[in-house]
Amino acid sequence: MEGVKIVTIGGGSSYTPELMEGFIKRYDELPIREIWLVDIEDGKEKMEIVGKMAQRMWDASPYDVKVHLTLDRREALKDADFVTTQFRVGLLNARIKDERIPLSYGIMGQETNGAGGIFKALRTIPVILSIVEDMKELCPNAWLVNFTNPSGMVTEAILRYGKWEKVIGLCNVPVGAMMAEPEMLGMKLEDMNYKFAGLNHFHWHRVFDKAGNNITQKIIDRMYDTDAGIPANIADCPITKEIVDQMQMIPCGYHRYYYMQTDMLEHLLEDYNGKGTRAEQVKQTEAELFELYKDPNLDHKPEQLAKRGGAHYSDAACETIASIYGDKKTHIVVSTRNNGAIPFLPVDCAVEVSTYMTSAGPMPIAWGDMDYASKGWLQAMKNMEQATIEAAVTGDYGLLLQALTLNPQVSGGTTTKRVCDELLIAHKKYLPQFAAKIAELEAAGITVKDEKVQAILDK
Ligand code: G6P
Repeated sequence: MEGVKIVTIGGGSSYTPELMEGFIKRYDELPIREIWLVDIEDGKEKMEIVGKMAQRMWDASPYDVKVHLTLDRREALKDADFVTTQFRVGLLNARIKDERIPLSYGIMGQETNGAGGIFKALRTIPVILSIVEDMKELCPNAWLVNFTNPSGMVTEAILRYGKWEKVIGLCNVPVGAMMAEPEMLGMKLEDMNYKFAGLNHFHWHRVFDKAGNNITQKIIDRMYDTDAGIPANIADCPITKEIVDQMQMIPCGYHRYYYMQTDMLEHLLEDYNGKGTRAEQVKQTEAELFELYKDPNLDHKPEQLAKRGGAHYSDAACETIASIYGDKKTHIVVSTRNNGAIPFLPVDCAVEVSTYMTSAGPMPIAWGDMDYASKGWLQAMKNMEQATIEAAVTGDYGLLLQALTLNPQVSGGTTTKRVCDELLIAHKKYLPQFAAKIAELEAAGITVKDEKVQAILDK
């Protein structure tokens, strides 16, 4: 590679400065030639603001890198070396629908792995598969580094239905843990060995010291009275300590939506009835961030970006790319093909595990067996993911209801069907695979109950 070409789809995202900072920090090992930010017409204004900001960041650095902005994805993809994806189909209004409609019936709408996450997958998977088709034609040797949620389901869809092997699904949650925990114990990260396994937003980890001692329990004992590195978007609702002591694995922040389901639901309902759901709060933060990005004197990532749950994601994204480019073999936790790393899950499914990132891609580290309960969770969640992915590809309504019913955050009942139907109607514009069913529901007079969602429904 003669200077690297990076393409970022969803370039208008408020996270773009985070990505630029990560690339600037690593320029010596990842000599970038050009960066292309791609967005759609609806994201044009944001891309222009954040794109100028991105160029200012490079101009303030010692490196000569040009940031190109385009609405033409195919123009950008030509001869790309790495394609990163961070788009949100339907923008933040779609997330408001994902969160509010389930909550209006007392069901969690978590945007990455609850009912919201299922609908985000339905909207995202057809788009990512069309990006993969363009890549096959225009940059067949490129790596696709995906950050769009639900990152694990998106990765598996690309492997299974896109038949594209050079894909890596990213998440910043492990980065947060590996930043907070060494500090918690007064240790250095380089003196610790981490091992993660599970699914995206559903992984656990164990930690060992330099001498090989398992120090997981030490962290468990400390994490109840310190900042445990949980992302900013997740309510402070620690998992019952006896459960964690028993499993001898450190859960991720998103496990709270399962182990602490009733408590988390209370937090979410409080926001729903009060200051607004996370999507509504984030919309506010985003507006503030874009005001800052407009400042022609701002040429570095503003601190306010840390208010977002995805803080430090460039440490996963840019390090992954630098590590592939330079065959660095860095330990990075990613969604990738299982290949036996978690032996009780299908060999060809996507899992989120510790890997060594090499020029040949991620080399997963085997975890081995788990206790009955954790194994049960993983198998149920994986099957829920696979049913969701297949429903996204086929538009099978019965299968979609099965996925929702299987999801522990949702479960079965007439309310589940009602929530499903309202979500389908609310997301009509972005769910062409369900067009016939949506028409049937509309003809039957189904409408969205939540008033705030009604106010933002697409014409
Ligand atoms: C976490 C997750 C990301 C997610 C983000 C949401 O860090 O790992 O996958 O996108 O939080 O944060 P937000 O600020 O959008 O609620």
